[in-house]
Amino acid sequence: MSVFGKSVTAVVAGVALVVAVGLGAASAQEPWVAPPEAKNLKNPVKGIGNAKTIVETNCVTCHGPGGKGDGPAAAALPPPKPADWTSDKVAKETDGEIFWKITNGRGAMPPWKHLPEKERWELVNYIRTLQKKK
Ligand code: HEC
Repeated sequence: MSVFGKSVTAVVAGVALVVAVGLGAASAQEPWVAPPEAKNLKNPVKGIGNAKTIVETNCVTCHGPGGKGDGPAAAALPPPKPADWTSDKVAKETDGEIFWKITNGRGAMPPWKHLPEKERWELVNYIRTLQKKK
């Protein structure tokens, strides 16, 4: 029985290690930079469509209602923390870069490829409205 107990402990330790390594890889500390070809993508969409609702459903838990990166889930996440959409850093990025990041995600930030392209551009436009309100 004690042998069995040991192997269970070993398996649990092994799983914990895999999870820890996985999280380490996901929370890369380097600044998140979109590839150069994303930078020049032209935003073909005007207006925000349903973006406000999409954000309230899918993004505010991490990014906060005003997009400042202060959603209720943010405190529990390891760095890098959810981006502050109203920061100068994000404001200076092109629509294409923000679109690319929403599409691909990184670490705790999920990819949103499954949303139609038009909706992803509307999310970019909605983020711009929050930057203006700042
Ligand atoms: C589970 C938490 C979580 C959810 C949900 C989430 N994000 Fe994020 N988001 C993050 C984290 C963490 C980062 C920072 C990632 C990094 O720097 O590696 C991030 C970064 C971003 C960035 C990059 C900002 C920049 O230009 O550098 C954008 C844009 C963004 N999120 C948009 C969204 C949108 C739009 C949604 C909803 C459709 C969303 N996020 C949902 C956690 C989340």
